Amino acid sequence: MGTAPASGGISHQRLAQISRVLLRPHRLGRPPAGNVFSVSGADGRGAAHDLQSAWAFAYAGYLPAEEGRREALCTVGNGYFATRGAVPESARDGVHYPGTYAAGLYNRLIDTVAGETVENESLVNLPNWLFLTLRIDGGRWFTMESVTVLDHGLELDLHAGILRRVTRFRDGQGRTTRLEQWRFAHMAEPHVCGLRTTITAEDWTGRLEVRSAIDATVRNAGVLRYDSLSGRHLRQLAAAECAPDTVLMVVETVQSKVRIAECARTQVHRDNGPCAAERRAVADPGWIGQDVSVSLGAGETVTVDKVVAIHTSRDRAITEPATAAAECIARAPSFDDLLDAHVRAWSRLWRRCWIDVNGSEMLRPIRLHLFHLLQTTSEHTVDLDTGIPARGLHGEAYRGHVLWDELFAFPILNLRMPLVARALLRYRYRRLPAARRAAAEAGHAGAMYPWQSGSDGREESQRRHLNPVSGRWLPDVSHRQRHIGLAVAYNIWQYYQATGDEVFFSHYGAEMILDIARFWSSIATYDPDRGRYSIRGVMGPDEFHTGYPDRPLDGIDNNAYTNVMVCWLLERALATLDALPDPRRLELTDALGLAPSEVQRWDELSRKLYVPFHSDGIISQFEGYEDLAELDWERYRGSHPDARRLDRLLEAEGDSPNRYRASKQADVLMLFYLMSADELMYVLTRLGYSWDPALIPPTIDYYLARTSDGSTLSAVVHAWVLARAHRHRALEYFGEALRSDIADIQGGTTAEGIHLGAMAGTVDVIQRCFAGVEIRGETLYLNPYWPAELGTLEFTMRYRGHVLSLSVTGKQVRVWARGGTPTPIRLCCRDSLTELAPGQSVELSFPGQA
Ligand code: BGC
Repeated sequence: MGTAPASGGISHQRLAQISRVLLRPHRLGRPPAGNVFSVSGADGRGAAHDLQSAWAFAYAGYLPAEEGRREALCTVGNGYFATRGAVPESARDGVHYPGTYAAGLYNRLIDTVAGETVENESLVNLPNWLFLTLRIDGGRWFTMESVTVLDHGLELDLHAGILRRVTRFRDGQGRTTRLEQWRFAHMAEPHVCGLRTTITAEDWTGRLEVRSAIDATVRNAGVLRYDSLSGRHLRQLAAAECAPDTVLMVVETVQSKVRIAECARTQVHRDNGPCAAERRAVADPGWIGQDVSVSLGAGETVTVDKVVAIHTSRDRAITEPATAAAECIARAPSFDDLLDAHVRAWSRLWRRCWIDVNGSEMLRPIRLHLFHLLQTTSEHTVDLDTGIPARGLHGEAYRGHVLWDELFAFPILNLRMPLVARALLRYRYRRLPAARRAAAEAGHAGAMYPWQSGSDGREESQRRHLNPVSGRWLPDVSHRQRHIGLAVAYNIWQYYQATGDEVFFSHYGAEMILDIARFWSSIATYDPDRGRYSIRGVMGPDEFHTGYPDRPLDGIDNNAYTNVMVCWLLERALATLDALPDPRRLELTDALGLAPSEVQRWDELSRKLYVPFHSDGIISQFEGYEDLAELDWERYRGSHPDARRLDRLLEAEGDSPNRYRASKQADVLMLFYLMSADELMYVLTRLGYSWDPALIPPTIDYYLARTSDGSTLSAVVHAWVLARAHRHRALEYFGEALRSDIADIQGGTTAEGIHLGAMAGTVDVIQRCFAGVEIRGETLYLNPYWPAELGTLEFTMRYRGHVLSLSVTGKQVRVWARGGTPTPIRLCCRDSLTELAPGQSVELSFPGQA
């Protein structure tokens, strides 16, 4: 069994040292800061950012309407699991939504919707380990709603990975109490989390009771739109007190039969050490805890440390979860020691993922975004079978499924945590057989990856969705977004370029690329009139167009994004076959039954796929797009101030976005995000089109004017494509992307989980777009276009076994190879090639760039 901290007083000092910026009580009530990147006004009431520290993300004041968003943004996690920032005394009640999710832990439930049977798989909300409340002299249990809140603040220390909460309140008897809490999801011990609570009786003397419990009565109910669907994923298997200060809860998911054990130790101490407390077990169905009581005099403080272990039957190197969790807690050191190790782990992580933008107010949101990426996927992901859920481990939107959003995260992970990136690609590899089955069932060859993926790789996209504006359940054909397979292939290729990981590529990556290529080759049909191949019945990234006005659910034909990327992929597939060592190529072509005629067809397709263009040379989003009606955006926006979800508004009015040249998000423009102008030129030329890069600016203008930005991914892509030509507008979109979750620009969706693609995308814009980092072949290219007004950018990355520190200003870039393998790397900066060996640095200037 663990020992209590030697001294509560010392513990607080250590906490104070650890936390970079402490919210002092007198600062809790101050007005929100008003710069564009911290939040202000109606968008983010109560946000109190200390501009002195870009490591602190804080909220002041209690605003029930804001709780959902704060909970998502104040999530603590470690890649194995994450817990929302709900206040520990809360339960789901319309204001609060405690949620804990383990990466890759899903369960399926069946419902009837609009007369149809629907089956949904969801990332499961696990028993709430956090629950802790208090009462005085047998009075009412404390909740934020049962008292008068005098001060309240939340602060996320991004450097230390600690969420701090301070609340002062007055109860119905006029007693004033100060409550301070720190919580963490351990970054070095992935199964461990902790909550320290200090309670100060400011002006009363009495008997304090603290209730510390594990609540397994939770269900998935974090998204209002899914409210009519079942959400009970857990059933209790056992609950017990397993040591005088320890309780254990064991549950199982009802369909996937994953067992989850949570074991909680609650210890009490005062300033000068452990303190005698009375304990009473409390148990109800789905609930186990202890009431711990002590006497407190006015001005006295008591500290309660809750340390919890979470294990599941998906874990490796355990006998079974209950034993593992109980033993983990029996061995667990004090809260202080755990915290120390946790903070050190975060420090190491930040050294690896360092980013600084001197003097820029955008640094805090950038770090917040990176922080949430690192909490969703970390070195603890490496041994798991999981992808990156689009909404993090922070909420229940998209039911925790894995979509194409990981496309925006791979560039960050490839160059910082390649093992993690590899593990995420292995998640896809394990689901290659399911993708092959899906293709075969649809009458195609190769591998057809699902638009939404969960446990076993089948298509998890819902077949009906609720339009909250009209209240109607509508058919959902978003599974037609077959371009997901292109994203998988693109991620594999980028990982390979960044790491040179031949073992992965030859054993796993190549097979996926070949099978995805095979799928596209089989779905493409020859159109003799045109003398070209077509890909029909798909959806592009723009989800508004599910079909043509007269065939609204059948998909659209020849989506330019899809077709151009297919051409890119087929060419990569040919290159893959060339690059594989002979024995492996023979092995693989034999295993896949890949005939030379098939490979020839890939070559032909990559030269003869049809790409639609408008009469003025602009790439058309899909065939027939130009025939659609123009939406009167000005009038529409006039009557609907927030027209981002134009699809929902139009449907509620009996209309449909299928009729209009109106997109939810970047579609054609995604091509400029994923490919340089040279690459795009190469692909289009190979296809036999003469395309002039001078058409890029009008193409951007054309689609910007017709996009509602209904997805947070849109602003990331738009910032990128505008960066070279319209820096000011690019920065506006970039600011919007930075605000996506902080200001909850979609009006309520952040509470359902962060938008991880957009978060990672902002870091990607910094790295690949503004700093101009590009990896091609054996060379690292640097073509910065850094907005000088943002100060100096510094960041660290890993490339081919080297640790590189980069510093970028508007006029210069400095690269320092801080250590790594002896082989020098090839660096190409604005056409000048140089080699860099470990220990060397190079400084390059760009005269003329502002
Ligand atoms: C976007 C998709 C995205 C999904 C999950 C949707 O709104 O249209 O592109 O994959 O959100 O983030």
